[in-house]
Amino acid sequence: MNDTRAIALTVNGEEQRATVSTRTTLVDFLRDQLRLTGTHVGCEHGVCGACTVLVDGAAVRGCLLLAVQADGARVDTVESLAPDPAHLNPLQAEFVRHHGVQCGFCIGGILMSLTAALRDDTHPTEAAIRDTLAGHLCRCTGYQGMVDAVLAFVATGH
Ligand code: FES
Ligand code: FES
Repeated sequence: MNDTRAIALTVNGEEQRATVSTRTTLVDFLRDQLRLTGTHVGCEHGVCGACTVLVDGAAVRGCLLLAVQADGARVDTVESLAPDPAHLNPLQAEFVRHHGVQCGFCIGGILMSLTAALRDDTHPTEAAIRDTLAGHLCRCTGYQGMVDAVLAFVATGH
């Protein structure tokens, strides 16, 4: 049996109404129904962090939450950070400047975790930055470029 339910939520500032399977994860809903494909799916088990989005401001794994559980919530995805690739936000720009991005698979989730962390602690230590990154798996960068990017972002006082 495939139950469906109507949900209404705010995604990147826009109200969305949809009918979803009660088994659909939030990340699949975002990607497949809203075509917000900047949020990636890696492990589907809450390990890699690629699917991280903000739900009511908190960084959560989109593969561990059902879309119906986000009914009534405010969801922000990586697409909320910049209108297009030519207008990156300051944190994204530092990632590019410091070679914090290679294939990019992990980056959407990492940026959303960092966005939440930097909102709560505007001057994190390197250890705190690494602690945030520890919730994410990247198979390319070695993380140092990401750390350098966040330190530069913090140093410029954004
Ligand atoms: S896809 Fe969600 S944590 Fe890996
Ligand atoms: S940049 Fe390739 S997995 Fe992180």
